Parts: sequence; C-alpha cells; structure tokens
Amino acid sequence: MLVAQVSDLHISRESGFLDGRVAPRQCLERAVAHLNRLVPRPDVVLVSGDLTEHGGADEYALVRESLSALQMPVFAVPGNHDSAAMMRDCLPVQVPAREPGHASFVIEGPQLRLIGLDTSVDGKAYGELCANRLAWLENALTGGGGTPVLIFMHHPPFDTGIEAMDRCGLLHGRDRFGEIVRRNASVSGIVCGHVHRPIQTTVGGVPVHVASSAAHQVALDLREGAALAYCLEPGRVSLHRCVPGMPMVSHSSYIDSFPGPFPF
Ligand SMILES: [Fe+2]
Ligand SMILES: [Fe+2]
Repeated sequence: MLVAQVSDLHISRESGFLDGRVAPRQCLERAVAHLNRLVPRPDVVLVSGDLTEHGGADEYALVRESLSALQMPVFAVPGNHDSAAMMRDCLPVQVPAREPGHASFVIEGPQLRLIGLDTSVDGKAYGELCANRLAWLENALTGGGGTPVLIFMHHPPFDTGIEAMDRCGLLHGRDRFGEIVRRNASVSGIVCGHVHRPIQTTVGGVPVHVASSAAHQVALDLREGAALAYCLEPGRVSLHRCVPGMPMVSHSSYIDSFPGPFPF
C-alpha cells in the first residue's frame, strides 16, 4: 500500500495569508495536482489536520471542493485550527467518525487498517489524548486480526526541539499512547502534522513521521527560547510505503517541479 499524506492546509476565505506571502488555496490545488500525477498512484490520501484556519463551514466547503479533484479516497483528522464538530458535519465522507466527543475513526482495509486519531481540544492550540480517546484506541487496536495499522493524528506524540511548537504539542496522554503502541505489534507507523516541518523519530518502537505543510513552513530553530517564525521553504507531501511485516518507510515529495530527473 502506498499512503499519501498532505498536512496543514490552513484554508480560509482570504486568498492571501501571512501578509500576502502565502496563498493556501493555491498551495492546496497544486498539492492535489501533484498527488494526481504521482506514479504509482497512492492508494489513499490522509490529511493530518489544520485543514482550515478558523474552522468555518465556508472554509470546509472550499476544502471539500479542492479535495474533490483527488483521484483517490481521502480521510482527515482535525487539528487545532479546525472545529472537529464542523469538520464532521461538512466532511462526513472524509471524517467518518461515529464516536461522541471526538472525531476518531477506523478505516478497515484488507492490507492496512487506518486509524484516524483526534488529538484536538476545542479552542486550544495544544493536543490531548484523554482517557476516553486512549480507551477507544486500545479497543480499535484489538480488532483487525493482525492486519498492519497506520495511525494518523495532528499533534506529534513527542517533543521536536522546536520549543515554541512543543509548548502547543501533545501535552496530555503521550506516555500512555506510547505504551499502547508498544504493546500492539500490528502498528507499523504513525504520521502527524502540526509542526509544518518534516521530522522523524520513533515512539513505542514504531516509526513516526511529521509532514511538511502544503502551505507555509515553520522555521527550523532549535535554540532554547527561540521565537516562533515561519518561512517560505517549498511545500511537500509525504508518501508512506506500508508493506506487511515491515515498519513504515516514509518519503517526502516536493509539490513544486524541479529540473530532472536525468538518467545517470
Ligand atoms: Fe498547522
Ligand atoms: Fe496545528
């Protein structure tokens, strides 16, 4: 299975964003075109949160319109800039959540189970996995008869070293989450967004990948006390190769075109 990931779209009604330096709707349209051109074509596309800037119905209508051009199924989890309730109402196909209180869900596939895990907290920038969501995850992982699982969520379950982003990271439930992952051999990978940078590590012995934003990136600054800043590094999508019995293998693919490929 080839799983594509696009993250942190930050769609709003305004065409310009961040002093006009970023045009999120154009960025999303370019990302969608890029995903449709990929060979081999990904089997599914995951959107790892912050689909909108303000969580409004009008913004989700714009997201739905852009995502409708994708030639593969799309699923999405909310980020801190989203409204989980509004997302469920406006994108019922992409967010097929059944639970009261959080927008998590499972997509059952014969080769791969996708678990969308809602880490958002209404009105807060930080993320949380409360006892209710962790119990739901444990229960979701008990089904599936050993089929590999890919978990996708907005807030990464680790500190990145970019302090200003870590202060609004997954502040509650991450240790328990790591224990649950460690106990479930079927989990082959975890993919996240929120940090607007490509970052990799492991949690509970499983590879974790944080995707770039399709729009603006967070400046890489690992100094203590560094102020949060954005930059105009090119946007990327991620591609996760999921082979049964193997850990997830993740690639980053620039949305823009560059010269090449040239044969060696
Ligand atoms: Fe974001
Ligand atoms: Fe975020």
